[in-house]
Amino acid sequence: MAEIIDGKKTAQSIKDELRARTEELRKQGREATLAVVLVGRDLASAGYVRNKKKACEYCGIRSLSYELPETTSEQELLSLIAGLNADPAVNGILVQLPLPLHMNAQKVIEAISPAKDVDGFHPQSVGALSIGLPGYRSCTPAGIIELLRRYHIAMAGKECVIVGRSNIVGKPMAMLMLREDATVTIAHSKTADLAAVTRRADILIVAVGKAGLIEKKHVKPGAVVIDCGMNRDPDGTLCGDVNFAEVEELCSAITPVPGGVGPMTIAMLMSNCLDSLALQRH
Ligand code: GUN
Repeated sequence: MAEIIDGKKTAQSIKDELRARTEELRKQGREATLAVVLVGRDLASAGYVRNKKKACEYCGIRSLSYELPETTSEQELLSLIAGLNADPAVNGILVQLPLPLHMNAQKVIEAISPAKDVDGFHPQSVGALSIGLPGYRSCTPAGIIELLRRYHIAMAGKECVIVGRSNIVGKPMAMLMLREDATVTIAHSKTADLAAVTRRADILIVAVGKAGLIEKKHVKPGAVVIDCGMNRDPDGTLCGDVNFAEVEELCSAITPVPGGVGPMTIAMLMSNCLDSLALQRH
């Protein structure tokens, strides 16, 4: 039986540490403020935003909420971001994705000042991460590194296979794993023999968005399996990309869905928000 990597409990510990840090900062008259922007009425996005604001409250971070109608023009959103960039009282800016189709999401991401890019999506943040310069790290990959560290799972010299090449998870995950001295492979939808590649992994990280994609045949006995999937099965239950019941029997450790990677993403967003205070200090 595998060890269950408890992201919920680990995220709670991190939030408690951050809460202690904000109490110290408050004594020095300093407070972090996160601006959260949501466009439209996507139910999943509204849920994520609610959880992010709740986490801010818990950690002692002020949150400002901008909930804009679906009909907002790209120009209106860009103007709002320009105002938040210029506002010294705002330390971090988060625009929840996906945006409505009439907007160019990349243009919006690039409009956020890199100094306030707590999501780590700006090309400058991505570039800095790639060459080891200081900057914000994308929250889900940063949360996975933190989980592995806190569970004392060694990364240096290990074969790490990442399934999925998204800008939000797969690619930054590969860069962070390289920084940890893992040997990194990225597999994706065009990979010829997925099982042959994933079976090489000591650490298998899956971020595709396809329920049950990873089965027993994809996993080397004793591997560590990290599941970033957030899918709904036919009866509406939240599930990951890994067939948990099958894979749990042969791996050494695994993250569940829910309660694995998801809570860590929010904890790392909070951590980035506090780092923003130090980054903007002058
Ligand atoms: N949509 C799905 N995940 C994320 C995230 O981490 N940040 C933002 N801004 N939008 C998302």
